[in-house]
Order: sequence, then structure tokens, then C-alpha cells
Amino acid sequence: MEETWANGLDLHLDVSGTRPRAQLEGALRDAVRDGRLRAGTRLPSSRTLAADLGIARNTVAEVYAQLVAEGWLTAHTGSGTSVAEAQGTLPHGPRPATPAHDPRRPRYDLRAGEPDLSAFPRGPWLAAARKALAAAPDAALGYGDRRGLAVLRTVLAGYLARARGVAADPAHVVLCSGFAHGLAVLSRALRATGVSELVMEEYGHHSHRVIASSNGLAVRSLRVDDDGAVPDTSAEAVMLTPAHQFPLGMTLHPVRRREFAQHGGVVIEDDYDGEFRYDRQPAGAMQALAPDNVIYCGTASKSLAPGVRLAWLVVPPRLLDPVLAALDGGPSALDQLTLAEFIASGAYDRQIRRARLAYRSRRDRLVAAVSPLGLRVGGIAAGHHGVITTSESPVLERAAAHGIALEGLSQFAHDATATQAGLVIGYARPPEHAYTTALARLCALLADGRRD
Ligand SMILES: Cc1ncc(COP(=O)(O)O)c(C=O)c1O
Repeated sequence: MEETWANGLDLHLDVSGTRPRAQLEGALRDAVRDGRLRAGTRLPSSRTLAADLGIARNTVAEVYAQLVAEGWLTAHTGSGTSVAEAQGTLPHGPRPATPAHDPRRPRYDLRAGEPDLSAFPRGPWLAAARKALAAAPDAALGYGDRRGLAVLRTVLAGYLARARGVAADPAHVVLCSGFAHGLAVLSRALRATGVSELVMEEYGHHSHRVIASSNGLAVRSLRVDDDGAVPDTSAEAVMLTPAHQFPLGMTLHPVRRREFAQHGGVVIEDDYDGEFRYDRQPAGAMQALAPDNVIYCGTASKSLAPGVRLAWLVVPPRLLDPVLAALDGGPSALDQLTLAEFIASGAYDRQIRRARLAYRSRRDRLVAAVSPLGLRVGGIAAGHHGVITTSESPVLERAAAHGIALEGLSQFAHDATATQAGLVIGYARPPEHAYTTALARLCALLADGRRD
């Protein structure tokens, strides 16, 4: 097996046998056929490839000529040999695989969990990455501080204080790769400090329960009513979504916030979509009420995209050492540098303002579209999803049959007392151009359901 790095092209070709010409011919055909060598790719010169493979230059030249004659390659005077564009007319073998349409893939995806990925600010993010990397000292690329890069911790502390009212000292900010990662770290840290149980809202992500339990904590459910989670003063540790209960959508009542913050146990505050409030009554983070008890958790998964895998914890000083001991690596320094620049330059605020306007309008359109059907969107005007109270299974079945991905409320329920039926509509997820149709399809399904 030989590898070549010619013309900057890393070709992995097997010509180790006794018939190099036949082998090279076959290897190049295979590489084109299975897509490793794409149409338009420029191949190394025959001299370079021959030197890399340890075979005669003439052999390579003959192979190239043969494959040009067969239509696999094209040769242009002065610009060398490239993989042919017209793959459909290749004389041998099947066409390179093109991704087939998967009939099970929904046409319209209205599940909660992702923002509109087509609105990711690619240009500003690239600009921030370029600027941040050019300016970063070499030391930023080392193993560095376990908490994450100081530049990002400092910028985040300022942002969180300004935008979410968090009492944040950069020394107590810890970067992790998404909230899910942070929850695993916190579960281990709490376990190490003697906590045995995490009390979680009776509605939420199943995966979060699995993370807590597989990292050493027993999980118990906390009842949720119209004012949010019902305080449990016996809890050693509680996880809450106070700004916007996931998925039901209410805010935690101020009296309850205070009770939870001051009950003495640890609170994990999951502020997953705190920036997205549309009714001009933003609730700040509850962490400021009791910075010694509350671990604030924010994430870029809603404000930017889940694929960014960046999240941040603001940890009470007494828990910092256990958290750092439980930390198993963190996000890439390159991503941290980029996010620091992205926030410091104002691009993060601009992105959130833009997204807030777009999602607010989508929510308004959802409310307006379902109201003639006698349905309302529950929860406060915030975030990326809304709950419609209706019977679940018939709508979900019809949705699946019509290529619309939808989730029912019961899939987020974890306790016998959690018995509400409804649909969790992720109105932020479709790209803007698909939202109008997605909404129309959803309403048609709901209207059919009314007629049944
Ligand atoms: C309730 C809740 N918390 C946190 C998150 C963010 O998770 P992560 O940062 O791991 O992507 C989400 C994302 O969907 C969520 O719904």
C-alpha cells in the first residue's frame, strides 16, 4: 500500500503487486467510482505519482492515457489530468453513488430541539474565527486551563451579567461541550460531594435523566403545575428550566424561584433558551438570587446551533474543585477563541436579535394559524417551541403518514402524574422558506383531527 502526497493531493492507492499498470488502472477507477476522487479533482503529474509509487513514469503516463480514452479522466494541455466531470457516461462500472432520497426522512420537521440551522451566521462566524486565530497567542493552542480559555470566560462573564443577570466571575466559568456534557460533569461532581439524588422536572428530556443516572445519581421527579416546578425543600440537588420550562413552556413563579434558590440544596439552572423571550418581560437567571447554591448553565445550541457543541457553567466557588476534578476534557480552543471574538465583536447579540425577531414572528403565525381551529399554543411567548393541547396519537400517526415530523408531549413525560396530552411544536426548526408550508400542513392535519 502506498500513499502519495502529490500536488497537495493525498491519494491512497494500492500498487504493491507485480502488475503495477493494471493495479494503478484499477485503483484509479475504483477511487473515481466510489467517490474518493471527485469530478474535477486534479491528479498529480505522471512524474510525481511515479516517484511516489516507485514505478516507471511511462507506466503512469500510459495509465492516464488509457483512462482518458475510457472517459474516466480528462487531459488538458498545460493544466494536467483531472477526474472527468461527465460521470454519467463512464464506460465501466456503476455510477458513483449519489445519496438517494430517503422516503422515511420527513419533508417537514416540526420537532423541538434545533433552531433553524440554515440561519447559522456562517460569514460572521468565519470572520470571527479568522480574526481570533490570527490574534491568538501560541499559548492559546496548548492544553491550557481546565476551565477553558480565559478570554472566553471573561467575555462570557460580561455577556451573562449583561444579558441574563448572572453574577459571574470569569474564575468560576467552566466551558464544556454542550449542556449534556456539562450535566454529566455536574452529576459526577455532585456525586463526589456526597449528593446521591437529582430531582428533575416531571417533563423534560429523557436523555438528561439517563446522563444523571449513568453518572452516579438516582433520579426522582418533581411535579410541575401552571407556576412551574413545585418546590421540594428536601431535595439535595434539583435541575430546573426556570426561564421556560421544557417542554411545557411556563416560567417558574418568582416565589418558587426564591424558594428553590434558598432551600439550601444545589440547583442546576438549565437556561437553554433564556435569550428568546418575545413578550418584553424577560426573566433573568435565578442564579443571581443564590450564586452559592445555583449552577447556571447556558448553551450555544439554541442561540447558534447544536453542532457548535459549546456550553458554559457558572459554578459556585465551593463546587469549583469537584467540577474541575470531574471534567473530562472540554471544547476545542479554536472554537473557544472564535466564540470569544464572536461575542466581543457584537455578532452574537446581532444574531440573537435577528433570530428573536424571526422566531417571534413564527410563533405569532403558529398562534394565528391554529386559533381558528379552536386550539391555542400553551406557555409563554418564548423560545423555539410551543405546546398545543390536543389528542396525540391520531395526529402523530397522520403526521408520520404525511411526511411531517412531530413529537407528542407524552414522550417528554417521566412520571405517573405527568399525563397531559399534546403536541410539542418546534416552530424554529424548518428553514424560513419551508415554514409557511409546514404550518399549513400542520393545520390541515389538526383540522382533519377535528373532523374525526
Ligand atoms: C431543555 C434543554 N436543555 C438543554 C439543551 C441543550 O443541550 P446541548 O447544549 O447539550 O445541545 C436543550 C436542547 O435541545 C434543551 O432542550
